Amino acid sequence: MTPKTTPSLLPPLLLFLVVLLFSSSTTTITTAQYPPVINSLLPSDAVSLLSFKSKADLNNKLLYALNERFDYCQWQGIKCAQGRVVRVVLQSFGLRGTFPSDTLTRLDQLRVLSLTNNSLAGPVPDLSPLFNLKSLFLNHNYFHRNFSSLYFVSSQINRSRSLL
Ligand SMILES: *[C@@H]1O[C@H](CO)[C@@H](O)[C@H](O)[C@H]1NC(C)=O
Ligand SMILES: *[C@@H]1O[C@H](CO)[C@@H](O)[C@H](O)[C@H]1NC(C)=O
Ligand SMILES: *[C@@H]1O[C@H](CO)[C@@H](O)[C@H](O)[C@H]1NC(C)=O
Repeated sequence: MTPKTTPSLLPPLLLFLVVLLFSSSTTTITTAQYPPVINSLLPSDAVSLLSFKSKADLNNKLLYALNERFDYCQWQGIKCAQGRVVRVVLQSFGLRGTFPSDTLTRLDQLRVLSLTNNSLAGPVPDLSPLFNLKSLFLNHNYFHRNFSSLYFVSSQINRSRSLL
């Protein structure tokens, strides 16, 4: 194991990826198990978001209340298309915690993910399940400077712009 760097805001890990082509998106139903702490009767995208919040929002900044309709498409920073989450933009929300695997990476329709300017630490999970991802912003956090989990994204998506 290599000793990890101490948390630092510099240099920012900023990866901006854009694909100009639209790919036809297919919706797949997964039967994978979700963390038992969260009700498995919820829509899978709501489970993914709540699972992320449970580890990434230790200060409880995101007001993801479970209303009667479980309308996660109305939650802060979330945008949907046809009932599936396509954007998660949680910039400068004061999030503190980690970005666990098997949370946002289950949002298989996700196109834009921004976690810019929070206090998230630890490794970035494998993002390869996010095969629709077009733009990714992780800068200004305390993530381990370990790009291995991003290799898939950078090799699979044509970059029209890349800022590091
Ligand atoms: C970063 O987020 C904090 C709140 O957590 C905010 O006060 C600050 O203005 C943000 N900085 C930038 C450059 O957006
Ligand atoms: C980078 O992180 C992955 C998992 O997060 C780990 O398997 C790998 O050993 C790490 N690489 C380095 C060089 O630390
Ligand atoms: C990536 O770009 C190259 C050259 O611009 C192009 O030939 C190729 O089809 C593109 N691939 C995708 C998946 O867009």
